[in-house]
Amino acid sequence: MCPKVLTFLLVASFQIYTQTHGDDFTVMSILKDAWENTPRNWVGADPCGGKWEGISCNNSRVTSITLAAVGLMGELSGDISSLSELEYLDLSYNTGLNGSLPPSIVNLKKLKNLKLGGCSFYGPIPELIGSLQLLESLDLNSNRFTGSIPHSIGNLSKLIVLDLFNNLLDGAIPISSGTTPGLDMLVNALHFHLGRNRLSGTIPKELFRSDITLIHVLLHDNNLTGSIPSTLGLVHTLEAVRFEGNSLTGPVPSNLNNLTNVATLILSNNNFTGPVPNLTGMASLSYLDLSNNSFDASDFPLSFSNLRALTTLMMENTGLEGQIPPTLFDLPGLQTLILRNNQLNGTLDIATSSSSQLKVIDMRNNRILFYSEAPERRNNVDVILVGNPVCEPPEATKNYCTVPQANYSYKRLPEKCVPLHCISDQISSPNCECSYPYRGVLVFKPPFLESRNSTYYVHLEEESLMRSFKSHQLPVDSVEVNFPAKDSFGYLESNLSMFPSGQNHFNTATISYIGFVLSLQTYENSDIFGPTYFKGSAYPYFDGKSTVSKELSSTGRIIGAAAGGASFLLLLLLAGVCAYRHKKRRERASEQKNHFAYLDLKNSDSVPQLKGARCFSFDEITKCTNNFSEANHIGSGGYGMVYRGMLPTGQLIAIKRCRQGSVQGGHEFNAEIEVLSRVHHKNVVNLVGFCFERGEQMLIYEFVRNGSLRDSLSGLSGIWLDWRRRLKVAHGAARGLAYLHELVNPRIIHRDVKSANILLDECLNAKVADFGLSKPMDNSELILACTQVKGTMGYIDPEYQKTLLLTEKSDVYGFGVVLLELVSGRKPLERGKYLAAEVSSSLDRKKDLYNLHELLDPSIRLDTMPKGLDKMVDLAMKCVQEKGRDRPTMGEVVKEIENILQLAGLNPDAIAESTSASFEEASQDEFPPSLKEEELSLS
Ligand SMILES: *[C@@H]1O[C@H](CO)[C@@H](O)[C@H](O)[C@H]1NC(C)=O
Ligand SMILES: *[C@@H]1O[C@H](CO)[C@@H](O)[C@H](O)[C@H]1NC(C)=O
Ligand SMILES: *[C@@H]1O[C@H](CO)[C@@H](O)[C@H](O)[C@H]1NC(C)=O
Ligand SMILES: *[C@@H]1O[C@H](CO)[C@@H](O)[C@H](O)[C@H]1NC(C)=O
Ligand SMILES: *[C@@H]1O[C@H](CO)[C@@H](O)[C@H](O)[C@H]1NC(C)=O
Ligand SMILES: *[C@@H]1O[C@H](CO)[C@@H](O)[C@H](O)[C@H]1NC(C)=O
Repeated sequence: MCPKVLTFLLVASFQIYTQTHGDDFTVMSILKDAWENTPRNWVGADPCGGKWEGISCNNSRVTSITLAAVGLMGELSGDISSLSELEYLDLSYNTGLNGSLPPSIVNLKKLKNLKLGGCSFYGPIPELIGSLQLLESLDLNSNRFTGSIPHSIGNLSKLIVLDLFNNLLDGAIPISSGTTPGLDMLVNALHFHLGRNRLSGTIPKELFRSDITLIHVLLHDNNLTGSIPSTLGLVHTLEAVRFEGNSLTGPVPSNLNNLTNVATLILSNNNFTGPVPNLTGMASLSYLDLSNNSFDASDFPLSFSNLRALTTLMMENTGLEGQIPPTLFDLPGLQTLILRNNQLNGTLDIATSSSSQLKVIDMRNNRILFYSEAPERRNNVDVILVGNPVCEPPEATKNYCTVPQANYSYKRLPEKCVPLHCISDQISSPNCECSYPYRGVLVFKPPFLESRNSTYYVHLEEESLMRSFKSHQLPVDSVEVNFPAKDSFGYLESNLSMFPSGQNHFNTATISYIGFVLSLQTYENSDIFGPTYFKGSAYPYFDGKSTVSKELSSTGRIIGAAAGGASFLLLLLLAGVCAYRHKKRRERASEQKNHFAYLDLKNSDSVPQLKGARCFSFDEITKCTNNFSEANHIGSGGYGMVYRGMLPTGQLIAIKRCRQGSVQGGHEFNAEIEVLSRVHHKNVVNLVGFCFERGEQMLIYEFVRNGSLRDSLSGLSGIWLDWRRRLKVAHGAARGLAYLHELVNPRIIHRDVKSANILLDECLNAKVADFGLSKPMDNSELILACTQVKGTMGYIDPEYQKTLLLTEKSDVYGFGVVLLELVSGRKPLERGKYLAAEVSSSLDRKKDLYNLHELLDPSIRLDTMPKGLDKMVDLAMKCVQEKGRDRPTMGEVVKEIENILQLAGLNPDAIAESTSASFEEASQDEFPPSLKEEELSLS
């Protein structure tokens, strides 16, 4: 009987010949159908064993999907929640992914990483996202999520990265109270990236405690109010604090001075008051921006000269007065000093400066009276003193009294090598190797918006990016930065091209990792370039070729989708049949998963028909084949063995048993189910059922009593085929093939038309069998069969062999050979001679019997002058024409055979419509005794 439940069936059936758990294949197929631009090798029924790009598995379960920046388009189906072993989901930087996040995603209980940054998702973040108890990284940055941050995130006790940057989230930062969880419970978190949203309310003091290990607190560019809670000073692990672009007020708490690990502190564009904070305890401070606040007017804090790690100091419009302490220019790493719009006076003296890294000093709109420059560094340091007394005439023409044009056009260093001319979309890298670069935009807010020599910065950016990649051991050969432009937030956008090392393309895992490194905002040298974030472009080259190829791409995809979809549907249907029977038998509802509902809705028109096909148990099959006894063994092939058997009802069946572990067998088995489930015709062998159990895959057909046409022609079956019977067989087989070619949707090419695959029932109805090599066709005329030519020697279409272009006309060729067999009784290839060639060379239409006496089958009783034999030979010769376009279609073949039938005095309609009682009765006496049931030795 049917094995267990639906789910089990799928599992069992797939484990036979795939390494992928059935449910997981189901889900992957749904995802594939819902997305455009999935990797090219997403074909077949075995994502794990088939090594689908971007998919990793463990014990035949899909554990990871890594498809960052591959150009996916579509929505994320809620069915993904059925991938119950999924740990890693990275779909970052696919801007064509949109829709809302399915709430069912919270059922992915094993999920550790959810990375959807840089897509176009919208709507709320699922309220119950906190059910993902194992989640370590929740990265939803740069989408269009709305609503508030779910409280339940507080339940993610393993969460390390919370990245909600750059969305449309509003409401307050959620904090626990009573039984309601909140972000304050995330004791393992290292990264809170909540910047560039619409968050309001205050920064909760509960968020910070001395026992947490936060590294990044990024709350910038929101609508937060109130003051900085002094608890922030308790988090000694902090490295980056960004609160800029809010409406924060009050004094900066003095205990921030305790945060000795902070390297980046940005408090600009708020409404802080009180004294400029004393930060001399921040020994690691490298990037400090206090600009545009309402601090008390004060002298420039002398203590800043003690910040030995400082590289960038920005205090624009902060009420500074008096003289800049000359000791400031003793800081060894100082590069950038932006002190615009203050009341600083006295002398700017860098002549004796020991800050060898100095690049920019922008002090426009102050009260500087004198400037003492270092002549030897005149070209290396941009000094801007516009709006100071020192630039009043006659000094106004001095270099430092003009504002340099923002000029980011970039002068490349002289090439180290000769750039190559590369083919397809490959680019010559800075190291002159052709490869497919991964491109993206690194967005940053540099302390300098104007520079006389930006070449320096571009190189610096390239170098620091390379250092980052090296330290993460990423296979990046080189980086090229180009054409920075300003975005609407005043950020600069620099175009990156990252070139792979070792091979000419990156794989999906590396793309994912690069995105991770660049999006974490920990990228090295942020002290020079300011806060950054990354927008990756689509990378369709992860298998070393563009997946968006020119002409063939859309056809190819349709073919693939049609093929994959059909077999997938079929398996669902098989599962459905079993589930239904099981339910009926056990009177117990089987579990229906939501993906089945989804499919029923979506594809109700195209659900294949499996009239009466049923699911057999292994025991049942064992019993009815007498334990696969030798006596019941009736044939074998590449796939395995064929047995006959008798069901308890008395129905005779043939069982095709796939050899275990045969990959080829698996493919053929698949193809066969796919075809037979869709076709129903008197002249096509009927599928009775199937059996997937105990690692077996078996197909069960109606038993076709009289064996194959080949057997009859060679006298093995003991059936004597006179001329009229041959005509009837030809007619039936032709009708079966015409049906496949013309009436089934999508059309089917059999690919292995031969006399051994035409079976004859007790009334000599021909039945086309063995669809192991068959191919469904979409509406295009051809299938490019990229692999080797398949078929049987003697029957293979010579044009297909040459061009690899498979058409229905290849079947017509095979059928022509079968007609020649019917006429001659010979095999298509005997002693190295091809039957078609022999007939062709002997043929002389002017002579009696076309001069084919030698070749005609003696058992046709030539003395009775078979009617229409000449026409049959003509038809056969048309079918075996060299060029497909010169051959008739199967429909035309059927018509011509019907003409011949009439010439022979037979009524084609009667033959086609009935089991041909009249025809059979008329010739009953001529039948040699056929196999009797008793002879089948079934017990
Ligand atoms: C910030 O809040 C104020 C009122 O509190 C509101 O008027 C403003 O539109 C908000 N800004 C954003 C970007 O939401
Ligand atoms: C932090 O700074 C405050 C004053 O700003 C001081 O009283 C306190 O002792 C410091 N705490 C630690 C742990 O250094
Ligand atoms: C800062 O406060 C001043 C008044 O104290 C007010 O005029 C200004 O709008 C405030 N700025 C912001 C960004 O809230
Ligand atoms: C700044 O804080 C340090 C301790 O970190 C202290 O030694 C120094 O006196 C303070 N400076 C001022 C001006 O308060
Ligand atoms: C600089 O400004 C301070 C405070 O505004 C003032 O006391 C001092 O005299 C000024 N020095 C010069 C040289 O103008
Ligand atoms: C710009 O900077 C680069 C790199 O630091 C340097 O090689 C080049 O000479 C500079 N160009 C000018 C015009 O100063």
